[in-house]
Amino acid sequence: MLVTMRQVLDEAAKGGYGVGAFNVNNMEQIQAIMEAARETKSPVIVQASRGARSYSQDNFLYHLMLAATELYPEIPTVLHLDHGNSPETCKSAIEMGFTSVMMDGSLMPDGKTPSSFEYNVKVTREVVELAHARGVTVEGEIGCLGGIEDGHGAGLDGLSHLTDPAQAEEFVKATGLDALAIAIGTSHGAYKFTKKPTGETLKMDRLIEIHKRLPETHLVMHGSSSVPKDLQDIINQYGGKLKPTWGVPVEEIQLGIKNGVRKINVDTDNRLAITGAIRKVFMEKPEEFDPRSYLKPAREAMKKVVVQRMQQFGQAGHAGDYQPISLAEMAKRYATVPVSA
Ligand code: G3H
Ligand code: 13P
Ligand code: ZN
Repeated sequence: MLVTMRQVLDEAAKGGYGVGAFNVNNMEQIQAIMEAARETKSPVIVQASRGARSYSQDNFLYHLMLAATELYPEIPTVLHLDHGNSPETCKSAIEMGFTSVMMDGSLMPDGKTPSSFEYNVKVTREVVELAHARGVTVEGEIGCLGGIEDGHGAGLDGLSHLTDPAQAEEFVKATGLDALAIAIGTSHGAYKFTKKPTGETLKMDRLIEIHKRLPETHLVMHGSSSVPKDLQDIINQYGGKLKPTWGVPVEEIQLGIKNGVRKINVDTDNRLAITGAIRKVFMEKPEEFDPRSYLKPAREAMKKVVVQRMQQFGQAGHAGDYQPISLAEMAKRYATVPVSA
């Protein structure tokens, strides 16, 4: 069943757990997530970036998602836009049927240039008004992640634009959003840290301070792949050339979950798992040319990562906890709690 992200995150807050948001571009990735959700009985957030929407021509992705909700009716499933770069992008996702959108106004529409606070408030608030009128959830971002390798980020190190806790408070009040992504030193992609992160490079203390100021706000951690060594090793063992690198340790994410983190974005770990599995088949069975011979193990490898994360984040076992609230009902609820001026 397709549900809103607000409902899933509200339930997660009640239960004190986090929910993984996994990026998808194709059928195999959607299948991997849904199979993992069924096996672990988890609610799930499936998210598509602008790149994913253009890769799949939107319609393919949307119809694959509809197939997912038909085939896995017992799984509360959110379809979320990741890093919307403008109100127009968010609007087109809402019109397509996404139940949640991210307006990433921390960057200008080019997805690179850090924006002003005023710009961010303006575009985020615009999307909140548009989305809430239809019952759709809105995630915003304050502060900028590091890195640029996947096209989202200012190309700076992860510490240049950390979220300012006082500004975060002001931002939430001024926009009325449902979930807030914060910058605490992470970045997108595989190359986050050159060694295991410490309190100097991954600012969990900052996250804890933000949660103290905003105890009711659902916090979102982007760039939260753990980049496990075993997944790196498989790729390199079968001809890949990854440089040594570190991601976000799962224990740090779990500390985040104890301090208000409800949504955890993971893409890179799944990309690594898929690539490792495909490389393995190519090296070990060079005679194979049926795409299913490598896409099946790739799907299985991704499913394994997602199962693990669902267990580690605590969402496992919670799929049956609640009945879906319709978009119309959500819109009615938003209408009774207007955004403060
Ligand atoms: O935010 C980053 C996600 O990993 C999506 O990346 O824009 O390459 O699809 P993408
Ligand atoms: P990773 O690159 O760490 O998987 O982060 C993904 C993400 O934040 C998507 O928005
Ligand atoms: Zn992100």
